[in-house]
Amino acid sequence: MCGIVGYIGNEQAAPILLDGLEKLEYRGYDSAGLAVYDGTDIRVMKATGRLKVLSELSHGGAMLPGCAGIGHTRWATHGMPSDTNAHPHFNKDESIVVVHNGIIENYLKLKKLLETRGYQFVSQTDTEVVAHLLDYYYQGDPMEAIVKVMQRVEGSYALGILFKDHPEEMYAVRKDSPLIVGKCAHGSIIASDVPAVLKYTRDVFFIQNEEIVRLEKENIAFFNIDKEEIQKESTRIEWDVNAAEKGGYEHFMLKEINEQPKAVRDTLNPRIKDGRIVIEELGMTPEEVAAIRKIYVVACGSAYHTGVTAKYVFEGLARIPVEVDLASEFRYRNPILDEGTMVIIVSQSGETADSLAALREAKKHPGVRVLGIVNVVGSSIAREADHVMYTWAGPEIAVATTKAYSTQLIAFYLLAIRFAQDRGKLSEAEAGNLIKELQRLPEQIEMLLANKERIQRFANRYVAAREIFFIGRGIDYAISLEGSLKLKEISYIHSEAYAAGELKHGTISLIEEGTLVTALLTQEDLYKKMISNIVEVQTRGAFVLAVTNVGNTEIEKASDYVIYIPKTNPYFTNSLAVIPLQIFSYYVAIGKGCDVDKPRNLAKSVTVE
Ligand code: AGP
Repeated sequence: MCGIVGYIGNEQAAPILLDGLEKLEYRGYDSAGLAVYDGTDIRVMKATGRLKVLSELSHGGAMLPGCAGIGHTRWATHGMPSDTNAHPHFNKDESIVVVHNGIIENYLKLKKLLETRGYQFVSQTDTEVVAHLLDYYYQGDPMEAIVKVMQRVEGSYALGILFKDHPEEMYAVRKDSPLIVGKCAHGSIIASDVPAVLKYTRDVFFIQNEEIVRLEKENIAFFNIDKEEIQKESTRIEWDVNAAEKGGYEHFMLKEINEQPKAVRDTLNPRIKDGRIVIEELGMTPEEVAAIRKIYVVACGSAYHTGVTAKYVFEGLARIPVEVDLASEFRYRNPILDEGTMVIIVSQSGETADSLAALREAKKHPGVRVLGIVNVVGSSIAREADHVMYTWAGPEIAVATTKAYSTQLIAFYLLAIRFAQDRGKLSEAEAGNLIKELQRLPEQIEMLLANKERIQRFANRYVAAREIFFIGRGIDYAISLEGSLKLKEISYIHSEAYAAGELKHGTISLIEEGTLVTALLTQEDLYKKMISNIVEVQTRGAFVLAVTNVGNTEIEKASDYVIYIPKTNPYFTNSLAVIPLQIFSYYVAIGKGCDVDKPRNLAKSVTVE
């Protein structure tokens, strides 16, 4: 996610901003910038790349004298990483400057409105729309302009704002993106997260949605959207800096597991307009979609597992044949790719060597469309694909993917429904019902996250396990693949996932007394088959953990421990069933004392073959 820092006080602002941004580097970014009021004008410096580049460019901030300023580290969502797209962003006469963390979902509509009123844009960002909209509404009263902007924009934002003709003030406002405020000995400070302010104060104010903050050297005032002043209590931060970078979580992986509701919302909501799925970035007409005769999904690791789910969802809803390939196999098997084939490359990092090579192999074949489902904006796969659909999970730091995986599933659900409608396989009403189910997923994930203690207690029983198996049929097989990988990559316990129907073809010989078998039962039409598979392993001594839909209490007679997931459409159950499996793996690994965020032998992005 982006990082915001702002300061107004008696000290030089720029060094404080750089120091604060450095404490937010863990949030992931690809460019950075500063804006400082020098007594006459607001001056801006920005640089693509690491913060060090900006620090050197500004001579540690000395090139930007002044005691009021805002700074930003940008994680690109709209527009490639570049100096132009880096924040801060100005209005047209450079009298207003903004930094932003979040996604303005209706920025295109607002941009068109402003362009008809003569506004010109220099960047591809959604944030620049905020700068010009403030200009559009500004009549001399910053608060008035801010409130009007809040009433027009949709989506998530944390904003730091300076108005040149109010040099003694700095403003901040948030909705759904984090923002904190601190009072320090020599001034006032805003930031996206606690680490940026701990050097100056441990007493912070957590800003709530649609609260506006006016900061002055000596005073901080809070207002609601009706511009009524409100009183707020500060919170004493006891964390050490290292803990604070993880938002108070012990590990990035746990933080990212808990960020999944927001990541799913951020990936889903901008693509649902008036109850319909709109994937603007796809750039394909319904006729072009209807002309697709076959889809290949090509990826590695967990991204590959989302492809296994996608096969069931696309074939079920859109009736398009789907083949799922490991990128490291696809690139060498001289695939038969005809006109009318779409190859979907899925990659969190967008830099995985095998997946990038598979993309280049696909592009050798005339008439093949390549779509990238990628989390890192401007990454190699994003740049080389014919079309890109970004997952807005924000930067994922832990090696074991969780939130990016969940947002890749969302991207596939959206595509499958859109393709099914364009091919006449799904009515508006049917699509509308599926969309409603999708929109419930974030809150259902929150419900599962709230239940993590029970899963933690169960995980503690398997810290010494030598091997753990995962079985399932259909989409449950895809979930088993991901559950098994999550466990083995961070706990180093041997684990395998099997299509449950395969047990009798050899695997069942591995079952011994007490072997843990995790059975996925989210596909109601396969319950009975799964029950017989559970009995097969239980009679050979297995301890069966069942993950199934709430209400399927029958399973309690056939298994030793049950975790229920909320009811959703059968095509979407992976998004819910994977949550307890992530939590289980995390706590088993913790129990074993493993380095959860950086497991041995693994890298976050495998950029070599
Ligand atoms: C998953 O937890 C692993 N980190 C790994 O399997 C990963 O999914 C795989 O390397 C693909 O990475 P990508 O999504 O960045 O291409």
